[in-house]
Amino acid sequence: MCGIFAYTGEKESLPILIDGLTCLEYRGYDSAGIFIPHSGLIKSVGAVDNLKKKLSKAMPGKSGIAHLRWATHGEPTEANAHPHCDCNKKIYVVHNGIIENYKELKNKLLLEGHIFISETDTEVLAHLIEHYLSIKQDFEKAVISALKDVRGTYGISVSYDNEPEKIIAARFGAPVVLGLGDRENFIASDASPILRHTKNVIYLRDGEVAVITPKTHRIYNLDSAEVTRDKQILDWDADQVKKDGYEHFMLKEIMEGPEVVENTIRGRLIIEEGQVKLGGLEVVADRLRQINRIIIVGCGTAYYAGLVGEYMLEEYAGIPVEVEIGSEFRYRKPIIDKNTVLLAISQSGETADTLEAIREAKRKGALTLGIVNTVGSTITRETDAGVHNHAGPEIGVASTKAFISQLTALALVTLFIGRQRNMSLSVGQEIAKEIKLLPKKIKEILKSVDDIKAIAKKYKNSKDFLYVGRKYNYPIALEGALKLKEVSYIHAEGYGAGEMKHGPLAMIDEKFPTVAISLKDSVYEKMLSNIQEIRARKGKVIIIATKGDKTLTDFSEDIIYIPKTIEMLSPILSIVPLQLLAYYFALGKKLNVDRPRNLAKSVTVE
Ligand code: F6R
Repeated sequence: MCGIFAYTGEKESLPILIDGLTCLEYRGYDSAGIFIPHSGLIKSVGAVDNLKKKLSKAMPGKSGIAHLRWATHGEPTEANAHPHCDCNKKIYVVHNGIIENYKELKNKLLLEGHIFISETDTEVLAHLIEHYLSIKQDFEKAVISALKDVRGTYGISVSYDNEPEKIIAARFGAPVVLGLGDRENFIASDASPILRHTKNVIYLRDGEVAVITPKTHRIYNLDSAEVTRDKQILDWDADQVKKDGYEHFMLKEIMEGPEVVENTIRGRLIIEEGQVKLGGLEVVADRLRQINRIIIVGCGTAYYAGLVGEYMLEEYAGIPVEVEIGSEFRYRKPIIDKNTVLLAISQSGETADTLEAIREAKRKGALTLGIVNTVGSTITRETDAGVHNHAGPEIGVASTKAFISQLTALALVTLFIGRQRNMSLSVGQEIAKEIKLLPKKIKEILKSVDDIKAIAKKYKNSKDFLYVGRKYNYPIALEGALKLKEVSYIHAEGYGAGEMKHGPLAMIDEKFPTVAISLKDSVYEKMLSNIQEIRARKGKVIIIATKGDKTLTDFSEDIIYIPKTIEMLSPILSIVPLQLLAYYFALGKKLNVDRPRNLAKSVTVE
């Protein structure tokens, strides 16, 4: 959600800034802008390409700040696009987040005679800094004083025409990462645009301010005291943020499924002991033995992963589990004590609602754990312990490989907690063995790409879809429907197949197809009855079935087969064809698959 990128070094900054913005495009945005000291400002509505087209004159300079805006206050217009500046056009600010008291601050500044040209909350920051400079504070002090006046969330970068080499960044609630290069330094809202320049990074913490020049970086708190922070070396590869010949990141990331599972389980499975080695959880192993309840929290796709986790943990670890979306959890009065674990699932590690749920649980004494993909992210830092996905950067806005990895990590956590409790050695061994086989089985599913493409073509004119499944595959019906909605804008609803008779069946006719996940598992017979109910209403059915199941050929012509695994792990396979189906529906409609309208990759505001 919004993207910041800033550079200071020995090279010409414009191409570096444009490249940085291009890397951040996946986060979702509606306008873009760049400021280079002494060269000026350029902004445009829409894609970064529009910004490039507007570049009629050279913009020389060795530093600069750049921004992709996802509108919150004020429409996506050029005036509202960032960077925003002060009255004297000396101080330029890019900002992610929301300044909650901006109206109050703006009124004060208006009384002082400041002139505003946008409707944004961000512009207030530029004028506030100008105000503090005017009372003889230096650049760094002025930024800190301005930040002390604001309430809300921010990740910012500030550039000042009078000190062109210096860029100041700060964070409170919106991620900011510093990239430390060789005689060049960077600031960004996530590591993806930095990776191609350096792997040495520092993730700022809330209330920290960083000052970078080409050769130096310093970090302060809001009391102006210097803070020592060690750099981190990212193990992500710059190639992982390239499309590698695929037309879209979404397809590339689905195709990475086998590798993603390998990476999530690498060095963790001890098959002969029916165990897993999860270094991140070992530190809290004793406390985990005492817990009597798990609350899983996530948003969107991560929430659906949590629903699968509920089935896994209750069945195999024998522990009561509740799953809640972050935005609801934080506003109700959850009953939490020191024997409760809050397990947060998040790809980005920055989702505001998930983060607030963690904070609330911590305040109430719960042990907090995370399943997080982004190393160094806020959720990683704020949870007591956790498991990293090691899925690599996910660029497509619609989460695919992260979901598969989240399910795999949940299976590992289930083994870890289950074996601490009543899970037998033989059950542990069986689960571990089956986890190990998943990459091969995903590879096999990926070979059905042409069949899936053909099904997407056949149903291309359908305007509505129902997705149904039961038990472990009920959340997969929800996630399958979400994928279709997100990337193809086709109306889709996910239901537990048993619920059909309680309402949704009324929608079914020959024009309303259903995608049914009907695997050879403990609810197979029940699923067959549900499919019959749909067919009896002339509804067409696309079925995800277990390889070798001949019965279903009587039920539909459109069957996608997946290999057999144990029921608990079946969602890790059944979601793959549904992700591909959504992709090919969107492709057929020639949509921007990687950047669906209105959506942002990382939702850092409430
Ligand atoms: C859907 C999707 C979103 C995210 C949700 C949580 O494809 O990507 O629903 O899953 O915004 O994001 P993270 O996992 O970063 O917390």
